[in-house]
Amino acid sequence: MSHVRVAARVSGFGTSIFAEISALALECGAVNLGQGFPDFAGPAWVKQAAAEAIAADMNQYAPYQGLPRLREAIAATWRAQGWREPDPAHEVTVTSGATEALFAAMQALIDPGDEVIVFEPFYDAYVPDITMAGGAPRLVRLHPPAPGAPAWRFDPDELRAAFGPRTRLLLLNTPHNPTGKVFSRAELELIAALCIEHDVLVVTDEVYDQLVFDGARHLPIATLPGMWERTLTINSTGKTFSVTGWKIGYAVGPAWLNQALRSAHQWVTFATATPLQVAAAAALESALTNGYYAQFRAEYARRYQVLRAILDSAGLPTLPTEGSYFIMVDISRTGFGSDAEFCRWLTREVGVAAIPPSAFYADPASAPLLARFCFAKRLETLQAAGERLGRLGA
Ligand SMILES: Cc1ncc(COP(=O)(O)O)c(C=O)c1O
Repeated sequence: MSHVRVAARVSGFGTSIFAEISALALECGAVNLGQGFPDFAGPAWVKQAAAEAIAADMNQYAPYQGLPRLREAIAATWRAQGWREPDPAHEVTVTSGATEALFAAMQALIDPGDEVIVFEPFYDAYVPDITMAGGAPRLVRLHPPAPGAPAWRFDPDELRAAFGPRTRLLLLNTPHNPTGKVFSRAELELIAALCIEHDVLVVTDEVYDQLVFDGARHLPIATLPGMWERTLTINSTGKTFSVTGWKIGYAVGPAWLNQALRSAHQWVTFATATPLQVAAAAALESALTNGYYAQFRAEYARRYQVLRAILDSAGLPTLPTEGSYFIMVDISRTGFGSDAEFCRWLTREVGVAAIPPSAFYADPASAPLLARFCFAKRLETLQAAGERLGRLGA
């Protein structure tokens, strides 16, 4: 018998619920409102820029920090939003999606035994990223809003208590997946004050920064006083330009944090697809002046309103969403004992796939009874889901 085995660090990972629900949706011909990606094309002018870059033979390795043109476009995008203007040479790094930036950041900033504060529920990559770097997650709950209350919230005392001598980093996500929460200025100021007091770094995942609704405003924590020097802000052009398969992500922050990130990044992917970097640069440059972001937000606000109305009238009460691709619904009155059971049933019997948010909790049994629906879909897709969900409310 062989004693060859895989590394302990990956042996418990298994396959994700996303893969299971997507496979089930395919098998049952369900309308897939599970995984977070658009089912419509990205803008023609963005795709055209990629096609032209390939035809112009921009197909060899890019510099490992990212193409200068793309780093300059990212810096210009920050400036245009009234944030700080990062130095593209030292304060911006291009990565293979936000996913790689998060992985490389944890490798670069965490030593074995360090604790990382994370709000729970959390985007599913965070805990594996932390544990693969040898760190330990320290979870702080986001609590669902009581009926009529505007947003998910955390208990400030619970957050304060999470800081200790081993806390190295706080991993933030705003707008937040899966809750749709946009952290308020007051919440960010409290987080910032605690990180400064305890000399803790912040890595903040802001991939949905352009997707905020209902008057919510996205504020990067890096722009608060005293935070730039300790914060790495991660973003991705995949969500912003509806081309999630391109995986062009980036990190913005002080030179010392970018240098650390680049040290890890050079051994993870080294460089990211050159023609897609050219296209991402062209997209960010054009979006500075062509009104793209306002139109993008308006289209998503419409999708959000349409899906929210469908879910509410199907007897699945929606929780407020301030940003992101997602709406959470309360399933506590459906009679199901777990969100996974409900989502499997909904996919199989009703023909609409949703994600059970317990996948975003360290202890799935402790998750509130909710289901997550994605509205980054064509209006026809949402209507098709509506027709099927309509049978629930009948
Ligand atoms: C919060 C969050 N971070 C990161 C990512 C991944 O970004 P990318 O596709 O750029 O790797 C996602 C994708 O769903 C996400 O929801």
